Amino acid sequence: MNVAIMGFGVVGSGVAEVIASNADHIAKHSRVELRLSHILDIRDFPDSAFAQYMTKDVNDILSDDDTRIVVETMGGVEPAFTFVSACLKKGKHVVSSNKELVAKKGDVLLNLARENNVNFLFEAAVGGGIPIIRPLSLCLAANRVQQIAGILNGTTNFILSKMITDNMDFAAALRLAQEKGYAEKDPTADVEGIDACRKICILASLASGKHVFPDGIYTEGISALTAQDVRDAAKFGCVIKLIARATRLDDARWCLTVSPALVPQDHMLAGVSGVFNACLVRGDMVGDVLMYGQGAGKLATASAVVADVIDCAQHADASKVFGWGEADPAMLADPMTVETKLFVRAETADKAADTAKLNAAWPDCTFADSEDGELVFITPMQPEGALRDTLASFGFADMSVIRVF
Ligand code: HSE
Repeated sequence: MNVAIMGFGVVGSGVAEVIASNADHIAKHSRVELRLSHILDIRDFPDSAFAQYMTKDVNDILSDDDTRIVVETMGGVEPAFTFVSACLKKGKHVVSSNKELVAKKGDVLLNLARENNVNFLFEAAVGGGIPIIRPLSLCLAANRVQQIAGILNGTTNFILSKMITDNMDFAAALRLAQEKGYAEKDPTADVEGIDACRKICILASLASGKHVFPDGIYTEGISALTAQDVRDAAKFGCVIKLIARATRLDDARWCLTVSPALVPQDHMLAGVSGVFNACLVRGDMVGDVLMYGQGAGKLATASAVVADVIDCAQHADASKVFGWGEADPAMLADPMTVETKLFVRAETADKAADTAKLNAAWPDCTFADSEDGELVFITPMQPEGALRDTLASFGFADMSVIRVF
């Protein structure tokens, strides 16, 4: 079956490489013959082993009836959305690794795929090479998903790991991540939690059956964390991780957050270090399931893309029951109404008086040893908004506030 690739960047070139290297193996084990037909990119690649497939015109793909499967690895919403829509309308299956596209336009594209009896698949959009989408939509289909909690961004996990194990501050750890090629020159989408937010929205959409848009989801990154926060978290036996979380509440609404969180050192997610990702899914029948592996990288991500390509080739004449429907804003709960504990590091002019005030407000507040002029504590479990209101009433000059997982 002929396959075109739109976008010859890191992942797109990895897809070409996986198809070229493993076509025989795939033919033998999966009984589909994959052949590259076109590679779309605005750049020139005269020295590439795949130069013969290059085109700058999307119509070469759209007008080729022999190309039934198109891989989109361009990134960004446009022109990817226009091109993917056109491919689906032409009756071509589309496989995408583009989390921004899926998070912002998944409802429209899934609908277009259904209308045209083709598939729009995106295993690689969350967790890179880790199987997450298919396990969630297929293997765990008998469950009502109660919670998804993940370390879904490798760059921030690398930075936090360096802050935890090497006592680095955020700026030094970010510089190292950039030197190693994990963090981009403009690291905003990673360090401010935007990338993790897109990914948890995709997972929550799958679990809830309704599109969850990233806009409006509580998203807090790691750029304000200090080495002192990390050291103080350790006093409570915790590490700090960027946790993307979607929780199904008792009233069937969903609460989504992306934020740093204190994770107990003996928790499964605490041991996920460096650029690795992990996703913990709690089903009402199966209990906890952990998926772990390389969340980014050329061949790891391409392996997930090509698995989707194989799936499309094996079901070339059918539209799979997969995805979700339109958004329902009433389905989302305000995180400030949901119970949590907060870790706080506060500047104080009168430690004894402020400790007494805290004990009076929250008799089960837990304190850690702290320097003069500082209080470090974990609040009791209460709705987050109420906790923050009480904290504000103490009038601390400065505070770090981090959720407890
Ligand atoms: N920038 C992302 C990360 C790449 O660091 O995890 C994979 O989506």
